[in-house]
Amino acid sequence: MGDVCPPSAVRWLNTRLRKLVQDPARIFGDYVNPGDTVVDLGCGGGYFTVALADMVGENGRVIAADVQTEMLNITRGFAANKGIVDRITFHKCEPDNIGLAGEKVDFALAFYMVHEVPNRKAFFNQVAALLKPEARLLIIEPTFHVSSPQFELILDEAGSAGLKSVKTVKVLMSRGMLLSG
Ligand SMILES: C[S@@+](CC[C@H](N)C(=O)[O-])C[C@H]1O[C@@H](n2cnc3c(N)ncnc32)[C@H](O)[C@@H]1O
Repeated sequence: MGDVCPPSAVRWLNTRLRKLVQDPARIFGDYVNPGDTVVDLGCGGGYFTVALADMVGENGRVIAADVQTEMLNITRGFAANKGIVDRITFHKCEPDNIGLAGEKVDFALAFYMVHEVPNRKAFFNQVAALLKPEARLLIIEPTFHVSSPQFELILDEAGSAGLKSVKTVKVLMSRGMLLSG
């Protein structure tokens, strides 16, 4: 656990083939509604950001958040090509500070990013503060980086911030949990 994913990895993260194994609609389509405000934490190249922007529709908003400016720029370009960039707010995080104080979201996605966060205690406290009362947080971690005990530790740390595990979410090559605030 540790280092951040380099922008060069976007060619793999944003491949069209990813939809065959990690289809956004199947994974979290049930938790996102038109008009919602949602956050894509560690958006990377925006593979899930653009799917979220489709789901929230023209009256919704997606906050694409990442520590790397280059990732935000790639996401902006990807979303512009899809014609949905106006539904997205781009936000640069600090490694120890998400920095979205005052925002409230209906859904938060943390896909393949929690293992890169240096201070997960602070991270989960900040995520908990972002969630509206009925909101859900979805954590998905890659089996090739995060072992089962490490994932349990992550869920314990989320639990310490008041986030409750609701449902296991099955995604190929991954460990997943849906949580509530
Ligand atoms: C493996 S990539 C996953 C990208 C995207 N979620 C996906 O699945 O395609 C992890 C992303 O999380 C970002 N990241 C790492 N630590 C972060 C932090 N503390 N706050 C926000 N973003 C972070 C990295 O910059 C990188 O873009």
